[in-house]
Amino acid sequence: MSEPQAGPIGVAVVGAGTVGARVVQQIAEHAEDLRSRIGLPVQVTGVAVRDAGRDRPELGDVPVTTDAVVLAADPSASIVVELMGGVEQAHAVVTAALRRGASVVTANKALLAAHGVELHRLARENHADLYYEGAVAGAIPLLRPLRESFVGDHITKVLGIVNGTTNYILTQMTDEGSDYAAALKQAQDLGYAEADPTADVSGQDSAAKAVILARLAFHTDIDASQVSVEGIESVSVADIEAARAMGFVIKLLAVAELVDGEGVVVRVHPALVPQNHPLSSVRGPFNAVFVSASAAGDVMFYGRGAGGAPTASAVVGDIVTAARNLAAGSRGFAVEPYAALATLPLGRARTRYYVNLHVADEPGVLATVATAFAAHGVSISVVRQDGAGDEASLVVRTHEATDAALSATVASLRELPAVRNVVGVMRVEGQA
Ligand code: HSE
Repeated sequence: MSEPQAGPIGVAVVGAGTVGARVVQQIAEHAEDLRSRIGLPVQVTGVAVRDAGRDRPELGDVPVTTDAVVLAADPSASIVVELMGGVEQAHAVVTAALRRGASVVTANKALLAAHGVELHRLARENHADLYYEGAVAGAIPLLRPLRESFVGDHITKVLGIVNGTTNYILTQMTDEGSDYAAALKQAQDLGYAEADPTADVSGQDSAAKAVILARLAFHTDIDASQVSVEGIESVSVADIEAARAMGFVIKLLAVAELVDGEGVVVRVHPALVPQNHPLSSVRGPFNAVFVSASAAGDVMFYGRGAGGAPTASAVVGDIVTAARNLAAGSRGFAVEPYAALATLPLGRARTRYYVNLHVADEPGVLATVATAFAAHGVSISVVRQDGAGDEASLVVRTHEATDAALSATVASLRELPAVRNVVGVMRVEGQA
């Protein structure tokens, strides 16, 4: 225990973008409620901005500085809120705060994915809190349930849509037939995308969130070099239409799962989801995450996953939690990567697949194709053939198989003279 803090809780906010400005406003708007909930008033001691020359009426009379590290090191703030984004400077800010024993609230998934274990250790050593509910799935309470509510259970899989920008883009392409570029521009205009949307559309933003989820779910560090990441850049309206014809929608999924009790696979990729699965109706910037646990079964979390106000809701929630701990002279439980599980390569993941082939329409071709699947131990569940003339389109759906077996099958298919083109391969997630 530390001495309970007696005076106002000083909060330094680093970053005044879409989320930072909303956080400052939310603290001002709800000042009386926050005082009652914490037992002490919250006082924003300063805001670090990139451009001090800009007029910022939204920040009221809060002092503004451009020196983020000096603000974070200032002892008048017992909580430092990092919302500047990026990794290097954010790391300097957060470590400066933790080293002097200040608690840190951040929504910076890239920082946490890269340095989460180190930052938790620093927080523990300095008797400080480190909270980051806003880093994954915006307003949705997800990390606190993983840290606290499921802590007595055994999580086996976390699967979901954790990027609002890509979900918005895929939704616009599915519902409106919009092209990719127009949908991306709309997502940026609405404030869902990162400053550089490459991180969103390439799947890197989802991957950082998947690493954070995996660490909390499985109590282990994650080897980033083994995380498999595929974005939505190559998903076309034609793919979406083909999926629709088969009763599926295409979603960008983040998956972290225990495999054979030996290790964890973390993967991000577009996947086919049955139209009657709850994830298929998660539209626009909304996120949804399924947590599967031995005792609890499947639990679904759903809500707004991007945007200033929803993320600010999670950030201010963390500020209140850290402030209550300070007022009580206590700290939250530390996150320990005690399980030390291996991060396994994508080849170890098990899922179902859809393989779309263009083949010669001749006797024996179906048998040859089926033999290639059987040779790698991949069991076929559905085959559909369409087309006339000398070429047919063959859609094969499989039962569950390892990614390694499916990749080997596809490599063999490419070698077959009867297979003219492997048009598409996609994973299928979620039972209809
Ligand atoms: N760019 C992110 C998204 C914001 O679209 O989900 C929230 O992390």
